[in-house]
Amino acid sequence: MAPLKLAIVGAGPSSFYVASRLLSLLPRSGSHASSLKIHLYDRLWAPYGLVRYGVAPDHPEVKNCTHKFDEAATDPRLRFFGNVNVGPTSPLSHALPLSLEEFLPYYTHVLYSTGCTVPILHSALPPSQYCVPALSMVHWYTQHPSKPSPPPLERTSHVTLIGQGNVSLDVARMLLTPPDHLAKYDVPTPVLDVLRRSTVQHVSIVGRRGPLQAAFTTKELREMMNLPDSSMVPLDPALLAPPEGSTLTRQQSRTLQLLQKGSKNKPGTTKKTWSLDFFRSPTGLTTPTSPTDKARLTLAHTMLDPSSRVVPTGESSTLETDLVITSLGHRSEPSVPWYDPALGHLRTVSGRVISPDGRVVRNVYASGWAAMGARGVLASTMMDAYAVTDTILRDHFPGEDVQTTAGGAPVSAADEAAAMDAVEVLPKEVDLDAIPPQVEEGLKEGRVTDFEAWRKVNAEEIRRGEEMGKERERMGWEEAREFLAKVRTPVS
Ligand SMILES: Cc1cc2nc3c(=O)[nH]c(=O)nc-3n(C[C@H](O)[C@H](O)[C@H](O)COP(=O)(O)OP(=O)(O)OC[C@H]3O[C@@H](n4cnc5c(N)ncnc54)[C@H](O)[C@@H]3O)c2cc1C
Ligand SMILES: NC(=O)c1ccc[n+]([C@@H]2O[C@H](COP(=O)([O-])OP(=O)(O)OC[C@H]3O[C@@H](n4cnc5c(N)ncnc54)[C@H](OP(=O)(O)O)[C@@H]3O)[C@@H](O)[C@H]2O)c1
Repeated sequence: MAPLKLAIVGAGPSSFYVASRLLSLLPRSGSHASSLKIHLYDRLWAPYGLVRYGVAPDHPEVKNCTHKFDEAATDPRLRFFGNVNVGPTSPLSHALPLSLEEFLPYYTHVLYSTGCTVPILHSALPPSQYCVPALSMVHWYTQHPSKPSPPPLERTSHVTLIGQGNVSLDVARMLLTPPDHLAKYDVPTPVLDVLRRSTVQHVSIVGRRGPLQAAFTTKELREMMNLPDSSMVPLDPALLAPPEGSTLTRQQSRTLQLLQKGSKNKPGTTKKTWSLDFFRSPTGLTTPTSPTDKARLTLAHTMLDPSSRVVPTGESSTLETDLVITSLGHRSEPSVPWYDPALGHLRTVSGRVISPDGRVVRNVYASGWAAMGARGVLASTMMDAYAVTDTILRDHFPGEDVQTTAGGAPVSAADEAAAMDAVEVLPKEVDLDAIPPQVEEGLKEGRVTDFEAWRKVNAEEIRRGEEMGKERERMGWEEAREFLAKVRTPVS
């Protein structure tokens, strides 16, 4: 069989779902086994992408997917190289830079699972000390290697979140949950220290549309309703009545029920409050002129026109706030090859990457948020990854009965025509075991991590956490590198 030596750029959940499915569909002992190799590269030193550096700490059950990833990593056909940035620009100075020219000649197949790592900003709200993207908050409380500064919570009483998606609710929950409740989870000690000094009293969660169009899901809304010591500010009853003659989805009915329940709260009964400010869209932020002043956020009032588009009503209001956090979604990095600026991610058909001139790039694929945009939970990321795996297998074994179940794209006449006219960027023959010499060197120096190194750090983080009565105590890269140098088995 022709070799299938696959490099996956990114080691988030999508990457691991593709890898584990490939490994299980081409078992170690089968006829296709010996010529399969999978190399996962991530610019972060630790694997799992947003599962480690995104999922909120008080959702530990979500991270159980890593058991499946760890199992895949026991297969000797899979290797992980952490701290390697593939491509021209890296936001992380300690990651080893590896250009495409240095990387592509080693692989017959490449999969981009690079996610959507860039927060979408609001044109009226440039980042400043008073306005930060939600991703910086997420990176702060997960101790992401980009190391954003901690938010100034000790001098903040009012926070405004722009956007009403689940990331927005994650951040609101982290700000309003009593730190003692968070202490048992995977919240790094320096983060807990800042949260303990926090003076946040109110979080406004601003959306340009109404309750029926909100992007958050009911589970996350319910968690907000159940926060101890915090309550929702009652909503205007007009917002809680379903429009006449409308048929609501299950999600919409549940949302309205929850909001109706929350609107029965008696003001002043809890120490902290939060509000959902519907039909408001920011138009500007005036920063304070003295340290005792607040910033002033101007909000245009909005409504939906008959085609459900957001339009201004002509009215506006001002909200005094200490910190604005924009949570408007994410896009891929424009430096990812074959990035389509119109989409904000790579252009693909059934997982196959498409070049700007509309041709298939042979044996180059994309999965997860890099291919779909920043939409969807882990379950949908998994389903997409399985479908892309099926496409890879069908392209590699045309006409062969490699058993697939996720319903990936069949090879149609159009596919075959596209494949004949494909852009060629990868070699057909490679040394199955070779890796770029820079990566080899990085492994020796301890700058590049492998899965074994991650296993050791993981066990140590859990051990430290147990001593402190919590899920784990995280290490940053410098600490992990020092720890790994100490426990490294000397090469004889
Ligand atoms: C804050 C947040 C919280 C979430 N919480 C939940 C939740 O509770 N439950 C749920 O089901 N879903 C949740 N999601 C959604 C879930 O995280 C995504 O569905 C999933 O992570 C997408 O997987 P991915 O592999 O495509 O991308 P990612 O997880 O982003 O992985 C991409 C990886 O690629 C790496 N990378 C990028 N560029 C390069 C490069 N040039 N070289 C090397 N490596 C590179 C990145 O470092 C990263 O590790 C959340 C999303 C966010 C943003
Ligand atoms: N617990 C979980 O399961 C969990 C946690 C976090 C994330 N996730 C998933 O991850 C994905 C991404 O979540 P997300 O919260 O980052 O994104 P999201 O769900 O797309 O929400 C983005 C929010 O920003 C608003 N917005 C976008 N552009 C705007 C603009 N110009 N002006 C005003 N508002 C604007 C959107 O409003 P409109 O709707 O009006 O466009 C929406 O309220 C989602 O699929 C989410 O479910 C899941």
